[in-house]
Amino acid sequence: PVPGWARESDVIVVGSGVAGLTAALRCAASGLRTVVVTKARLDDGSTRWAQGGIAAALGEGDTPAQHLDDTLVAGAGLCDEEAVRTLVTEGPDAVRRLIETGAHFDTADSGEIELTREGGHHRRRIAHAGGDATGAEISRALVDAVRARGIETIENALVLDLLTDAEGRAAGVTLHVMGEGQHDGVGAVHARAVVLATGGMGQVFSATTNPSVSTGDGVALALRAGAEVSDLEFVQFHPTVLFLGPDAEGQQPLVSEAVRGEGAHLVDADGVRFMVGQHELAELAPRDIVAKGITRRMQELGAENMYLDARHFGADMWANRFPTILAACRAHGIDPVTEPIPVAPAAHYASGGVRTDHHGRTTVPGLYACGEVACTGVHGANRLASNSLLEGLVYAERIAADIARAATSHDTATSRDTSAPRDTATPREPVPVAYTETPAHPLLPPEARLAIQRIMTDGAGVLRSAASLTKAARALDEIHAAARGALVENGKTAEPGTDTWEATNLLCVARVLVAAALRREETRGCHWREDHAERDDDTWRRHLVVALNPDRT
Ligand code: SIN
Repeated sequence: PVPGWARESDVIVVGSGVAGLTAALRCAASGLRTVVVTKARLDDGSTRWAQGGIAAALGEGDTPAQHLDDTLVAGAGLCDEEAVRTLVTEGPDAVRRLIETGAHFDTADSGEIELTREGGHHRRRIAHAGGDATGAEISRALVDAVRARGIETIENALVLDLLTDAEGRAAGVTLHVMGEGQHDGVGAVHARAVVLATGGMGQVFSATTNPSVSTGDGVALALRAGAEVSDLEFVQFHPTVLFLGPDAEGQQPLVSEAVRGEGAHLVDADGVRFMVGQHELAELAPRDIVAKGITRRMQELGAENMYLDARHFGADMWANRFPTILAACRAHGIDPVTEPIPVAPAAHYASGGVRTDHHGRTTVPGLYACGEVACTGVHGANRLASNSLLEGLVYAERIAADIARAATSHDTATSRDTSAPRDTATPREPVPVAYTETPAHPLLPPEARLAIQRIMTDGAGVLRSAASLTKAARALDEIHAAARGALVENGKTAEPGTDTWEATNLLCVARVLVAAALRREETRGCHWREDHAERDDDTWRRHLVVALNPDRT
């Protein structure tokens, strides 16, 4: 679409979770003109829903080195160690700066930040707020700070595509604003630095903890712009999502790992603690191991769900420590004070995304990515619990520093070659993707969303095989072919709008995810192949990278 209005900025930040708003605040603090655009309202992304907290070596006796070890173990051999070292070393100060920005964390009587445990952590190192409402508090503090600073924000603005200059450098974005106000309809914001902080893609599956806005828009945009995307096959399924029936669709209530961190037990319908003996940390094993343990037990027993038993917390602890989860359970007729909570795994986090270096730079000069949309290398094949808010903070700050550095040095060619060498231990190989994305990509009708979600849940969910993935790939191809056929034969495409763009972006990321999952013939981290049940370090200690040619027609 042709932009009907345009404006200029130094930096455009796309997305308004912890990563986007931190990047915006730090860029603005460096004197850069900064615009934040977001698809819904400023606080509508995933950050607000985060429960457990933010991991950092803040406790007595804890060190970044121990946090590094736990992160590497969870990442199952695919973390970029340097990226993790940066995360855990810069993390504690980044959290302190977040506190200075206005976020209030729960404290003990001593005044020290209270820390809890989650899966894969050998120590208490998760800071939390409002008991189990950490993301909501972080979001509130950052939104307040952005408003107080007078940073320009454009809400209800779906970013469509990256604009590039003659040298292929990012030059801004086109966007479709669906509000009432100054910036209506399709427009453009021109800027020399574009920061993608659009969050995840959980809505590619039927049941997810992600809000409805998490539709992979940033990854789809990056793919259309020719940027490299990596590790998309590693979708993390959260082990304990409130089970509301086999047909439940859309965003489902999370039951935080912190509930297990405080001593809840995973049991089957007979009350057997099936994780004991499977891992030294039992219920607190890394998330992929617990999700697999639950899925296996469900298969063995032919059950639709397992249970989380935390009746021994008692009414007061439930009310004070986990008020959000207590309210969500009760809203669905379950009282965790008197009965075990039915739970099952659901899609939760994209460990992969737009590939970046240690400064958040993507392979397209001037285009940056941070937060869930990015693949900085810190998560490897399976993200350690509560490392995501921290990653958003730390890498957003690094991006802001890089943009400010480039602006002051009049560096017109910010590029990867000034960055630290990245992850030489784990090679990357391009995945051939049978996929043609044209500049005139056909918009899908809104109802395609449900079809894509069902295809992905059936074929590319917790447990995958060549047969299930091939079936999924074919079904997704058919959706693409139908939309393309309508465009080529009748010149018809669906009406532009948030729902049609979201469906189109979901199809784009779903196809690449399935192609990568098919290619990785092993089981590692959160990628579980029924037909290749073992981890294969000889062949697969490497990353899959996809890049589409933006000029391809
Ligand atoms: C949770 O509270 O269990 C979620 C934490 C996370 O996804 O990091």
